[in-house]
Amino acid sequence: MSNVQKAEGKLGVLVVGLGAVSSTFMTGVLMARKGLTKPVGSMTQYDKMRVGKGADKKYLKYDQIVSMASLDDIVFGAWDVYPDNAYESAIRCEVLKEKDINPVKDELEAIVPMKAAFDHNYAKRLNGENVKTCKDRWDMTEQLRQDIRDFKAKTGVNRVVVLWAASTEVYVPINEKVHYTLADLEAAMKANDCENIAPSMCYAYAALTEGAPFIMGAPNTTVDIPAMWELAEKTKMPIAGKDFKTGQTLVKSGFAPIIGTRCLGLNGWFSTNILGNRDGLVLDEPANFRTKEVSKLSTLESILVAENQPDLYGQNCGGCGNDHDGYYHKVRINYYPPRNDDKEGWDNIDIFGWMGYPMQIKINFLCRDSILAAPLCLDLVLLSDLSARAGRYGTQRFLSFFLKSPMHDYTKNEVPVNHLFQQYVMLKNAIREMGGYEADEPID
Ligand SMILES: NC(=O)c1ccc[n+]([C@@H]2O[C@H](COP(=O)([O-])OP(=O)(O)OC[C@H]3O[C@@H](n4cnc5c(N)ncnc54)[C@H](O)[C@@H]3O)[C@@H](O)[C@H]2O)c1
Repeated sequence: MSNVQKAEGKLGVLVVGLGAVSSTFMTGVLMARKGLTKPVGSMTQYDKMRVGKGADKKYLKYDQIVSMASLDDIVFGAWDVYPDNAYESAIRCEVLKEKDINPVKDELEAIVPMKAAFDHNYAKRLNGENVKTCKDRWDMTEQLRQDIRDFKAKTGVNRVVVLWAASTEVYVPINEKVHYTLADLEAAMKANDCENIAPSMCYAYAALTEGAPFIMGAPNTTVDIPAMWELAEKTKMPIAGKDFKTGQTLVKSGFAPIIGTRCLGLNGWFSTNILGNRDGLVLDEPANFRTKEVSKLSTLESILVAENQPDLYGQNCGGCGNDHDGYYHKVRINYYPPRNDDKEGWDNIDIFGWMGYPMQIKINFLCRDSILAAPLCLDLVLLSDLSARAGRYGTQRFLSFFLKSPMHDYTKNEVPVNHLFQQYVMLKNAIREMGGYEADEPID
């Protein structure tokens, strides 16, 4: 028997950032619920998983296993630095064709962004005017809390989830003096410590204290700090992060297991991208790219583990001249406006086989960034809402499946799970458990 609270009433989805990803997400949801498109790529809408064993086994969709909010329940709201409403944003971003936006024009126009909690030092390439005036970081947080309360009162939603789909902020290194306890974090907000308190932390703090799960879709370290884990525990709210796993990293976390399971060696993996949307523009700034780089680099290390297989991935790997310890992993993103949202990714993988003989694999992924991200937004929102109703709080590791740099308790030497198929088992087991079934698939 599932003891998850039923998904009754409306679900408010407050999105930080009303750019390419969020406007594509919103348009798709609104179009799908009119029956004008299909939510392709969304696990919560399509995936079927096994529950029960042997003669009792059945393959069910998630909402047949446990009570889930439906697309019809969703009410959108947003914050952005620029005043464009969701319709204007969808048109400007040019991800979707006008014929796929216009049928829900009225609904999109009604999604007008609230003033952003923003600090220009965190995204120097952005110059919008739709920004709150704040005394300090604490005041910033208080204003966001008020926004959430006002949104609830205005729309009558039953529950709210806050999703960060805003630009990547500059890299904020974890500072033990500020980010390790809630008391220190709050003191730093009150002292207006702008170097250590990113605006995204104010959004997260506001969401969790207002009883809303918080999802970090960018690589920001926002909720990936012990102080926020403490807050999530105190308020009994789920958190998830970080960085949507969409194109290249999805391929990497699905492809690396091929190399690992066949005990092939890896000498180097070079990943590069060209991208021309506003995300690419922000990431063209080295300090913002640093945040992304840290996130993207973490994927391979926990799948192809040097200590476990030194001949294949460690010191001795590849007879590579040994000017580097272990395989060489490099990730680049290049801002290239002509491509807009149509990102192109190249992976060159130098592997080696029997007797150390080298081989190469090339992957060229011509993808669409926001088309890949939109279903992840939907799944992360619906599953975080489910977690909250199931009484699960703190880091939701079962959502690692959707994330490039999954959160984990590094203070306890917990390792992240990046392996796509292990992540899928974690996802399925969590849903089985919440649905009152046994979590019966081993993660190995
Ligand atoms: N599309 C993908 O495949 C993908 C994958 C992983 C992560 N992401 C991340 O998702 C985020 C959104 O991507 P996008 O392509 O929609 O970018 P975008 O630039 O089109 O939209 C981001 C929006 O956030 C707004 N913004 C910035 N700081 C803000 C703040 N403090 N408060 C409110 N709004 C703010 C910007 O004005 C902009 O409109 C980025 O951080 C990106 O790195 C995207």
